Amino acid sequence: MLMLNTLESRTSTPAVQLVEPAPNKEQLTKILQAGLTAPDHAAMRPWRFITIQGDARNQLGEVFAQATLKREPDTPAEKIARTKQKPLRSPLIVVIVATITPDHLKTPEVEQILSAGAAATLIQLAATASGFGSIWLSGPNTYHPDVKAALGVAEKDQIVGFIYMGTPSKPAVAKSRPELADHLSEWHGPAN
Ligand SMILES: Cc1cc2nc3c(=O)[nH]c(=O)nc-3n(C[C@H](O)[C@H](O)[C@H](O)COP(=O)(O)O)c2cc1C
Repeated sequence: MLMLNTLESRTSTPAVQLVEPAPNKEQLTKILQAGLTAPDHAAMRPWRFITIQGDARNQLGEVFAQATLKREPDTPAEKIARTKQKPLRSPLIVVIVATITPDHLKTPEVEQILSAGAAATLIQLAATASGFGSIWLSGPNTYHPDVKAALGVAEKDQIVGFIYMGTPSKPAVAKSRPELADHLSEWHGPAN
């Protein structure tokens, strides 16, 4: 029942509303261990989690700014300044990486990425269950080779997202969710 309540009540928290304290070491260990329970075809463990806190967030901002300028050299200075500040919005960032084994006999690349996505979701749920807020963010820099290189992510691997985490500064606003009926059908055999 408690578990279902967590599932039903989880909402993302805007990154600017995530403040100190971030999960401490012990809490973070538990939260990240939830990611290790992700469904995983052929036990490949295709995940890596990278935590970024404190001043390292400034360095991530610099990496994002340089990647943005490389992608779009004409980006106005104000936008670059804002980009540098982005990682500072929350006290903790967990980078979720899919570590890819190309041409695996049983597990195509898409399944390895899906498993890393499942790990990300489980980490968000564990954060919620531990009383913390989070949001899964990406953006074009997520896939930029320079960002991957700066984070020590191999070219063959994929960053699936940045989970910003901390304590929500405001109570969560209940969200209306889609109607299940709009996303559900029952199959009775081939269409014709
Ligand atoms: C792969 C992935 C990437 C995402 N990237 C962004 C993003 O860059 N910016 C953003 O505002 N939301 C992004 N989201 C959506 C948010 O994480 C969040 O799910 C959305 O705001 C809906 O809120 P909810 O989780 O409370 O339903 C992304 C979600 C996924 C699954």
